[in-house]
Amino acid sequence: MKTISRISQFREWRKGISGSVGFVPTMGALHDGHLSLVRKSNEVCKHTVVSIYVNPQQFAAGEDLEHYPRPLEKDLDKLDCFTVDGVFLPNNDNMYPEGFSTKVYEEHLSKVLEGNSRPSFFQGVTTVVAKLFNIVQPSHAFFGEKDAQQLAIIKKMVTELNYPIEIISCPLIREENGLAMSSRNAYLSDDEKKVAAHIYLALQEGKNQLHSGVRDPQIIRNSISKQISAQPLLKIDYVSVADANHLSEITESISGDILVSVAVFLGKTRLIDNFSYSPSSNK
Ligand code: PAF
Repeated sequence: MKTISRISQFREWRKGISGSVGFVPTMGALHDGHLSLVRKSNEVCKHTVVSIYVNPQQFAAGEDLEHYPRPLEKDLDKLDCFTVDGVFLPNNDNMYPEGFSTKVYEEHLSKVLEGNSRPSFFQGVTTVVAKLFNIVQPSHAFFGEKDAQQLAIIKKMVTELNYPIEIISCPLIREENGLAMSSRNAYLSDDEKKVAAHIYLALQEGKNQLHSGVRDPQIIRNSISKQISAQPLLKIDYVSVADANHLSEITESISGDILVSVAVFLGKTRLIDNFSYSPSSNK
């Protein structure tokens, strides 16, 4: 497993790799969700490259950039259990040299949900992912459904900017109590993790209602909101029932595929979770 920090060195190393290259971009603090992407890449591709880079451009002032966990040695040990050809570990000077001013942004899907609460977030994500794609030149890239909106935006970017890359989405991975795995769970105490699991339970309740035939999106939103609000430590940012393709809020009866998603604060920690639902298959 080769670790490389400099873009020029990575490019040289990449020239020696042929055949399919699966890419798993991460910000480190790797958990089983990330590792499931690496596993999938190992299944699908001849080679696998992982990047670990805490991208400052996707953090707004006052967010957790300084405190974001960076357990590099542990991350590399975890990756050692898989077939990882290269780990790209760029630094800020290399990625964003003095005077850097070129941005990549998607104009529609990026404005709602996470984009509404974190206005410059997706511009930071699409800019860094576009740069990483140009450097790594993968044939496939793997993203988790935990960040469903990010996944939709990356898929759109790849189509619209003609990247010759297949985006492979991988299922959200949960802790035993249902809490969606996230590097930010490291901020939570064991007691807080128990409280945070109620986010999953609330979503499950919404899903059960959909399975039993409820089609009024507001009933689903209200039910999820009520369950989350019953936990005094949880503060809702949004509860959304949106069209799966455009991510716009559903106002009429649910008839097509939807994304049900939430963002919730537990203290200063912001947690997101979601599920997709299709009325045609009732799944
Ligand atoms: O999902 C993440 O961890 C990040 O948004 C990504 C895709 C690695 C870009 O920094």
